[in-house]
Amino acid sequence: DKGGFKHYMLKEIYEQPAVTLAAFEGRINDGLVDESVFGEQATAIFDQVKQIQIIACGTSYHAGMIAKYWMESLAGIPCHVEVASEYRYRSVVIQEGTLFVSISQSGETADTLAALRDVQDQILASLTICNVPGSSLVRESDLNLMTKAGPEIGVASTKAFTTQLVALLLTTIVLGRRFKLTEDKEREIVLALAELPSLIERSIAMDGAIESMSQSFAEKHHSLFLGRGTLYPVAMEGALKLKEISYIHAEAYPAGELKHGPLALVDKDMPVVAVAPQNDMLDKLKANLQEVSARGGELFIFAGSTQDVQPGEGIHVLGMPSMPQILEPIVYTIPLQLLSYHVAVLKGTDVDQPRNLAKSVTVE
Ligand code: M6R
Repeated sequence: DKGGFKHYMLKEIYEQPAVTLAAFEGRINDGLVDESVFGEQATAIFDQVKQIQIIACGTSYHAGMIAKYWMESLAGIPCHVEVASEYRYRSVVIQEGTLFVSISQSGETADTLAALRDVQDQILASLTICNVPGSSLVRESDLNLMTKAGPEIGVASTKAFTTQLVALLLTTIVLGRRFKLTEDKEREIVLALAELPSLIERSIAMDGAIESMSQSFAEKHHSLFLGRGTLYPVAMEGALKLKEISYIHAEAYPAGELKHGPLALVDKDMPVVAVAPQNDMLDKLKANLQEVSARGGELFIFAGSTQDVQPGEGIHVLGMPSMPQILEPIVYTIPLQLLSYHVAVLKGTDVDQPRNLAKSVTVE
């Protein structure tokens, strides 16, 4: 049932205020995260963790990349992240005290499951962040945190991703307590989380403006997505969505890498999307965007401050609501989902069932 929406994907995008709330409500006690929701052995296992190894594929891998920034900067825990299809086929060094974290919407992705099985006897313990109760990854992991997004039907993952990020933030908190995260900081993050559903709602309200913007993409063959810090994986996720459902080649770069190669591609036929919240990387990002403009590239910027990032010739700016920095990667994902959705609709592709792809990749 598409609930009156034209596609499941759009319905699932619009469900995000509700499901991101479901992903944290009931898991907070007196302003602090209740770690027993991870499973009976949670406390005993978390007490022994020395580092994290995250494994996932596709969109779930992008969630893992964001979690790495959080684990290291907020929690002070060493964290590695890798796609399952590479990790499982190379010989890896697993350090003592490694918590193996798999992230998967379906819980059935063949490579992710195989990676877990391969390292079972070398790790401290396993935790899976998953959307499907009773799935293989859930059954085979020591600890679980369900993302509670509800069934995701569209092949392009949307609400599964944003709820994974909420779950990973909760995970960063419970582990970070044992490292450098203070109780004050934890309370601050929990308070910020409470604002998430309404911030997502306000981003969804930009739908009409994003739909207009999508016309500038439908005829193009290539595009570039830029971000820095936690917004770099958001750019990767935006590019994956565009490729997946609109069949337009899209590549993401951490903006600081532009001048090391991709700047040579930029011309008026290659739209450049940038996610530019008002954080301490903004000035650096603006300098990178300047390089794009100077080469005639057309910019589409989702900006935290329309005072700091101004529209101009070939520079389109959509203002995002102001928000706590921790929420930026979650909220800035929304306009990119909507952009790829509208481009795909304009192109007339099969939005919910893109060619050559399956919802659950159970073969390697
Ligand atoms: O079920 P999983 O999260 O393990 O699936 C991983 C990828 O196959 C999945 O995220 C894929 O990249 C999405 N279709 C992207 O929208």
